Amino acid sequence: MGYPDTRLRRLRKSPEIRNLLKENFLSISNFMYPVFLIDGRDRKESVETMPGIYRFSFDLLIKEIKEVRELGVSSILLFGVSEKKYSDREIDKFYTKDNFITDSIKEIKNKFPDIVLAVDVCLCGFTQSGHCGIIKNKIIDNDLSLKVISRVALSYAKSGADIVAPSAMMDGMVGSIRKELDENDFKETLIMSYSAKYASSFYGPFRDIADSAPSFGDRKTYQMPSSNSLEAMREIELDIEEGADIVMIKPALPYLDIICKARERFNLPIAAYSVSGEYSMVKFASNSGALDEKRAILEIMESIKRAGANIIITYFAKEIGKLLNE
Ligand code: PBG
Repeated sequence: MGYPDTRLRRLRKSPEIRNLLKENFLSISNFMYPVFLIDGRDRKESVETMPGIYRFSFDLLIKEIKEVRELGVSSILLFGVSEKKYSDREIDKFYTKDNFITDSIKEIKNKFPDIVLAVDVCLCGFTQSGHCGIIKNKIIDNDLSLKVISRVALSYAKSGADIVAPSAMMDGMVGSIRKELDENDFKETLIMSYSAKYASSFYGPFRDIADSAPSFGDRKTYQMPSSNSLEAMREIELDIEEGADIVMIKPALPYLDIICKARERFNLPIAAYSVSGEYSMVKFASNSGALDEKRAILEIMESIKRAGANIIITYFAKEIGKLLNE
């Protein structure tokens, strides 16, 4: 050893010293738990690709939210899952009336006023095409889609959602929703935009549980290519200009560099969505004995935090609540 004899192992000598020097902390208050709502009563359904995650009818979802709340998780991201698929024309009608999603939003906020309720705004779970926008002449028409998406967002805001979370990756989406909300006096509703959402293989299990796979083609004309990072910065920049309150990067683990770059460049809160495939990857690996689940979860969450995310959206939020209480 040379002089000065710098020994970093001094920093790791005991658990107490390691605790003293800890740089990043996980707090349950920064976690958001995604939940899936279906129409009807007394329904709890699972899919093989996402063990431990269910879609619930409203009556059972309430129980789930209670359990989540007791574990210290105070924010949820709601996905309405429709078994009926609508033609592009019908979909607008569906949203101009009350429906099982808007009814549930009202009830959730009634029963749990202190829950921060974010609602995903997209069309892919409702369209016959399974695409995130409205189709005209065989292409997904950006501006036509904006009109419908903005009305969907407004219907959720009217029902009491604290945050609307548009995930369709249409250009001008945040601006158009902000305008719709402001003109209708919903200036207090936050927009958490899925700003840099990649066309990812990691959404597979979600599409099973949300029944939202595209019926033809893929999402590559609107979601981002995994090779690009400068483009992600432009996506985020535009969403900020258009009035986003929170920007999201999604998925999380394969895009930690994007979270890191965004953290250095922008000053607003960053959410990272650790998506269904990231969840299932850990679940299946630990169920087979290849990984220690608890340690893997904490390690992954710390990596996302270290990269610079303020909010982490994860299907592990309940487990994390338990782990942090231990
Ligand atoms: C809908 C949407 C998707 C996810 C969130 N909102 C799927 C997709 O774009 O196909 C994925 C979430 C996950 O995989 O956990 N646009």
